Amino acid sequence: MSFDFQNLRSGIAAASADEQFAQAVLDGLSKTPKRLPSWLIFDDRGSEIFTEITQLPGYHPAQCEFEIFQTHKQAVTDILSKTPFRVIELGAGDGKKTEILLEHFIQCQLTFEYVPIDISEGAIKNLVASLESRFTGSTMSVTGLAADYFDGLRAVSQDSNQRNIVLFLGSTIGNMELPAAEQFVRQLWESLHDGDYVMIGFDLMKHPKTLYAAYNDSTGVFERFNLHLLDVLNRKLGANFVKGNFVQQGQYHPRSHAVESFVYSTREQVVRLEALGKEFTFDAWEPMQTEHSYKYTQAEIESLAVNSGYQIVKHLFDAQAHFVDSVWEVKT
Ligand SMILES: C[S@@+](CC[C@H](N)C(=O)[O-])C[C@H]1O[C@@H](n2cnc3c(N)ncnc32)[C@H](O)[C@@H]1O
Repeated sequence: MSFDFQNLRSGIAAASADEQFAQAVLDGLSKTPKRLPSWLIFDDRGSEIFTEITQLPGYHPAQCEFEIFQTHKQAVTDILSKTPFRVIELGAGDGKKTEILLEHFIQCQLTFEYVPIDISEGAIKNLVASLESRFTGSTMSVTGLAADYFDGLRAVSQDSNQRNIVLFLGSTIGNMELPAAEQFVRQLWESLHDGDYVMIGFDLMKHPKTLYAAYNDSTGVFERFNLHLLDVLNRKLGANFVKGNFVQQGQYHPRSHAVESFVYSTREQVVRLEALGKEFTFDAWEPMQTEHSYKYTQAEIESLAVNSGYQIVKHLFDAQAHFVDSVWEVKT
């Protein structure tokens, strides 16, 4: 069984990813209020800080999903084990939760391929190396792809004898607004075949104080994560953000149904982004949104599935029903 890594983000693909990044920043900083999409934070260091977030005891989306995988790993195995299958993971990050499932499949002597996909090259390289050191000689082969979600998915060879299950965990879908999430699951449906599965991790709506606590840890990891975006902008776009001039806070917003994280400029200042050839003024205490994490109801999840051509197979909840990993089958 092999453990491979491929970078699909080199050459023309890398240039177009850089252009997309620059455009997203230009669009976001030109908005009033300023608002940047969450995915910009995920360079290699951003992924490392996100791993620290998933280890915070109070960050329930990660803790609940760890619990769900421990509790329901046999239920997932029962769904998949009837035919040969391949596990594809979009935005795999450190893959730690998925490892619970992979280990269980291996213990059940199932032969399968695992294809983690992430824009963070460092995250995928580390993941493949860590799986190789733990699972060499097992029934699993691994092909890690440093790629954008759908570029990675397109690169995976299609074999109609093999069912795919696509994992999209960690409430990453919550980083999209509802129309973008609808478009995403529809595009996923178009990329798959009848009988393939998807498993998506959704954070559920709950007490706003619980949400506030989850995104405002006392150790400051969330603040470091959001402020890291300024380092990314400095490095990738030749910007001159001074991190010490910004602070961070997250809060649930009832109109957007999302936890929104903001960095606030603590003073009036002008920031230059050399690669964009532009300067942007920040007023004192002006907020800039850096994260959006939509909180779903079960009814919204079910509409999302059914309206996009999926049949709901199972909802896997944690004991407190704070989070759900929802398994859907592609129906054409
Ligand atoms: C919220 S984190 C979740 C990580 C992991 N799945 C977990 O549950 O802990 C989102 C992940 O998606 C990756 N990502 C974001 N946008 C992406 C894109 N367009 N294509 C591929 N990966 C992406 C990030 O690098 C990051 O690792």
